[in-house]
Amino acid sequence: MPSFHCITYGCQMNVNDSAWVARSLVKMGWTESEMETADFVFINTCSVREKPQHKVLSMLGIIRDTNPKASVAVAGCVAQQMGEKLWEKNAHVRLVLGSDGIAYAPQAFEKLAKNPKLRLSYLKFTKEFPDRKPELEFFRTVPVLPTGSAEESTKGNDTRAFVNIMQGCNNFCAYCIVPYTRGRQKSRPMASVLAECKEWLSRGICDLTLLGQNVNAYGKDNTGDTPHFTELLYETAKLEGLKRLHLVTPHPRDFCDATVNAYKELSVLAPRLHLPLQAGSDAILEKMGRGYTGRDFMRLVEKLRTARPDIALSTDLIVGFPGETEQDFQDTLRMMKEANFIASFSFIYSDRPGTRASKMSEKVDAKVSLDRLNRLMTLQNELAEDWLKSRVDMTTEVLLETKSARPKYSEVKDHSLDVETVKNVTEHMENDTENTSWQGHDTWGNTVNLIIPNSFGHKAGDIVSAKIVTAKKHSLLGELL
Ligand code: SAH
Ligand code: SF4
Ligand code: F3S
Repeated sequence: MPSFHCITYGCQMNVNDSAWVARSLVKMGWTESEMETADFVFINTCSVREKPQHKVLSMLGIIRDTNPKASVAVAGCVAQQMGEKLWEKNAHVRLVLGSDGIAYAPQAFEKLAKNPKLRLSYLKFTKEFPDRKPELEFFRTVPVLPTGSAEESTKGNDTRAFVNIMQGCNNFCAYCIVPYTRGRQKSRPMASVLAECKEWLSRGICDLTLLGQNVNAYGKDNTGDTPHFTELLYETAKLEGLKRLHLVTPHPRDFCDATVNAYKELSVLAPRLHLPLQAGSDAILEKMGRGYTGRDFMRLVEKLRTARPDIALSTDLIVGFPGETEQDFQDTLRMMKEANFIASFSFIYSDRPGTRASKMSEKVDAKVSLDRLNRLMTLQNELAEDWLKSRVDMTTEVLLETKSARPKYSEVKDHSLDVETVKNVTEHMENDTENTSWQGHDTWGNTVNLIIPNSFGHKAGDIVSAKIVTAKKHSLLGELL
């Protein structure tokens, strides 16, 4: 049986797609191996900014040099955009899978393995959500791997799972290539979403994320059995065994009052929401075509905080959008403080071919953009640190995920405990065979480390109560309650 190696760039959608491809191949009897020795290298690509796209093209060169015998499959957004052009300079590329084409990956790999002269491409957009009919068949029979194992990254771990509920996007924000690479929005039938959720829950996974480019527009395309997004939330929340439900990514404009209310009524919905703002200035938001103003966004934030007072928000931000002035940028900084984002993904605007923004004049100088990005990140770090500090003394529930390496004295010396205490604790821990240092996430998505006696018999996937004792720069230390 052939061997394969997976390389994934881009968003959670891609990570999820690659995990599914890997599981399917393992089910077919293929084995995972290092890139240098694999018969097939599968690259799942991203083109949301220029940099990730360049990385893919240089990776094709690296594979050719390090493993000349390998056949390569390119999937995802760059594959969708470049299509069979990828074959021109890359004799080793034998499979090109667009966004909807990825559903055919297992069959395509099988054909290529049987016929070494074959080249295949699957680039058409389908009309309906490209449900992977064999998907449930495939992953049902693959054993869940222990968390922390080398194979975990491609096959999913046993504590959290992501479930695709839609594909594509109809928004055409001025800067964004996603509507071109992922096609029009198509919602996955609710029965199929719930069936996959149930499958994960039956394996003991209790933390699910509903995934899509614009999750709260779910159902608006009317493809198949797709009710309103809020109904999907309520139906998912009913599933037995579910302890935490997340959604990634909702659009502020599509966030209706019924969904806000779900945050009040459904305790299983995690009090942590990623809500992309993109920019703080109304003029820039308008040019981006986001469909909301700064005030609209803040009104939504207030409604969410009324529904769920402890909700923590994170966001996506772009600096240097064409025409962005210093004043516009100041508006972004102001909004970050007002919304009190605990984390953000921030990007320098990058021209993407075919988008409206790429044709706009008044491009912002690269140095100015970089300076803005740095200032934005400085503010974000402050907000994030303040947030973590505010958790100290609070009680929280931690989903245990990995057994972390025991913290060394040098790694924790900057936290707020006095030096002697830290030294005592860490020296004790280094020689400690009776306790395990666990890492996990609390309901707000904070990384929490805590020491638990082995005699308690905890395993990955358990949820424990803890009190936060220390805030570090990017994580928290807790004590088991
Ligand atoms: N569907 C999601 C995410 C889309 S892509 C949403 O609408 O929020 C992820 C993030 O990449 C975007 O939120 C945006 O902040 C960033 N992004 C997209 N296109 C970009 C571009 N041309 N330049 C810089 N950042 C971009
Ligand atoms: Fe891109 Fe806008 Fe769609 Fe998000 S909502 S994927 S930013 S077009
Ligand atoms: Fe990138 Fe495509 Fe996801 S462009 S962000 S991989 S949808």
